[in-house]
Amino acid sequence: MPIRIMGTGSFLPEKNVSNTDLEKYVDTSDEWISSRTGIKNRRIAVHETTAGMAAEAAKKALEMAGKEAIDVELIVLATVTPDYYTPSAACQVQAELGADKAIAFDVNAACSGFVFALNVAKMYIETGFVKNALIIGAETLSKILDWNDRGTCVLFGDGAGAAYLEESDKGIISVVQGSIGKKGMVLNCESRRTHNIFTEDGIEHDYLHMDGQEVYKFAVRQCPKCLLEALEKADMTADDIDYFVLHQANVRIIESVAKRLKAPIEKFPMTLGYTGNMSAASVPVMLDSLVRDGGLKRGDKVAMSAFGAGLTYGAIVLEW
Ligand code: ACO
Repeated sequence: MPIRIMGTGSFLPEKNVSNTDLEKYVDTSDEWISSRTGIKNRRIAVHETTAGMAAEAAKKALEMAGKEAIDVELIVLATVTPDYYTPSAACQVQAELGADKAIAFDVNAACSGFVFALNVAKMYIETGFVKNALIIGAETLSKILDWNDRGTCVLFGDGAGAAYLEESDKGIISVVQGSIGKKGMVLNCESRRTHNIFTEDGIEHDYLHMDGQEVYKFAVRQCPKCLLEALEKADMTADDIDYFVLHQANVRIIESVAKRLKAPIEKFPMTLGYTGNMSAASVPVMLDSLVRDGGLKRGDKVAMSAFGAGLTYGAIVLEW
């Protein structure tokens, strides 16, 4: 039986930071950011944490699905900004929810993380290993940004989105996933360097680095390509799709994908104007906004796609 999303939820931190607010700290302008990216505002975590936001989003997804945390069998959380190396953010969410029967672990696929987590959970359910799953994308990107690098710090925001899955008569129809590790350094953030009693280096903390133009080229090539592959696998065309739920990195990337697929831009809802790029949280927050405020209804056809660091990419076609 197909695997279906039965409920969604999202959570954004309280503090809103507009482009104009950023002008006070960074050598930038609202005009530069808006015209190149479509981003006007983003939420920045001040007291919120990755696992805390994830748990709030997960509670809303469970509530929409009408399910209890104690019955959840799998939690897969996509993030590149966990609060701890260990325990995983998924285990923290398990504890917060009281989902004591669940298997819980994180996946790291950057902006593609939610799509990757969705496919992992789908296969766990399809094999019969578990009956249901909570999947979450949650990020506190603001803590790995170099706030002196205007080329990156203006692009990102913090937040979390979640979905609850189980078998149903309709649901996921096709999936495409891929990784291009040899191009990984175009978007990177180094972890702690090797540091022990045998090394002489001091402890250094690094930040996110991005070759924006290379990432742009990758996104506008790979995103439509994997969407078309997923549509072909589903025996559909772009005309059959009601909504394209894309990773919210940049309005110009989304417009380019729409053009390539010859699909009207109205089928590409966007949150990026008020969220910025939230990496793994972008797709589930977009989806939750479409479910709650955007008119997505059962029976609609949805194509999701994400692309990001790794490099990684993926697309999913489903009947809502
Ligand atoms: N404010 C003002 N000026 C800036 C800023 C800023 N925030 N950032 C860069 N500039 C300046 C640069 O210094 C440069 O000035 P110069 O010409 O005097 O040297 C000029 O603007 C142009 O810089 P570019 O980097 O060439 O700008 P570009 O037009 O390529 O736009 C951008 C940059 C928006 C990042 C673009 O490359 C892009 O959209 N890339 C896609 C990457 C992306 O969306 N990444 C998100 C994360 S990755 C992911 O989610 C997959």
